[in-house]
Amino acid sequence: MTWTRKHLLGLEGLSREELITLLDEAKALKPVATRQAPALKDLAGSIVVNCFFEPSTRTANSFGAAARRLGAEVVSFSPGTSSLMKGESLADTILNLQAIGGDVWVVRHAASGAAALVAKTVRGSVVNAGDGQHEHPTQGLLDLFTIRERLGRVEGLAVGILGDIRHSRVARSNLWGLKTLGARVILIGPPTLVPRELAAAGAELAGDLDAVLPELDVINVLRLQLERMEEACLPSAREYARVWGLNAARLTRAKPEVVVLHPGPTNRGVEITPEVADGERSAILAQVTNGVAVRMAVLKLLVAAGREARP
Ligand code: NCD
Repeated sequence: MTWTRKHLLGLEGLSREELITLLDEAKALKPVATRQAPALKDLAGSIVVNCFFEPSTRTANSFGAAARRLGAEVVSFSPGTSSLMKGESLADTILNLQAIGGDVWVVRHAASGAAALVAKTVRGSVVNAGDGQHEHPTQGLLDLFTIRERLGRVEGLAVGILGDIRHSRVARSNLWGLKTLGARVILIGPPTLVPRELAAAGAELAGDLDAVLPELDVINVLRLQLERMEEACLPSAREYARVWGLNAARLTRAKPEVVVLHPGPTNRGVEITPEVADGERSAILAQVTNGVAVRMAVLKLLVAAGREARP
């Protein structure tokens, strides 16, 4: 199919065909992303503006690498050294960056809906790089990509998402993408961190990690997002690690070919032990590598669709 969307704000509402188009494009671009094939020129003459209003290591650098592998220029905006510090609003900041020149906007912000707001403000394409607790579509895509690469398919697999689902935009993007591609999604964690209402989106809820582990083909471990917790959701990090942490002893209950994912940054010793994070079931660094290919695919398809839409 031909891709027609100008923005990527979430995986909710994308069709199976759209997800497959993105994932197939990412697969074709992986040799370029990993520098086994020369860089491309699809975005030559374009400026990608990396607007990260929240800290990021993987996502910001991955978008930067992806944009450059497609021949774009990259402008990076960091709030700590900007006039946001003098009280300038998000909308004004964006309009001023647009006046300098920007074709694609990669936006991360603590407020859900921030990327959608930017999409209403700018002329170019917008990619949501994480908005509050809402969505993080390229993380969802790179998780799907890694599952496909490791296990050959997504359909029919049982994927557990473990931990702080309440505060996680990664969990929501995973849920939409996985359900659309026909996986079972099992949300696992303490009731204070697993919103019951996600069952309406087709997720199963599990309150006992050890009981559900043997069924899983993939386990996506989430970071305890302490900076987002306004109220006490947990007794202590130690208690959490004991009941919900993924450790080597626990992992022996899982299928031998189980794939362990984590979006990073990891709190080693809390939601995952170093042994598991660095162990042979872990695909954590493969996820990061795949992120570049996925982001190249997103940038390439959005920019092509944006050009098509222009008179
Ligand atoms: C995540 C994020 O910021 O949403 N990290 C990422 O982008 N890989 C998850 C997190 O912060 O725990």
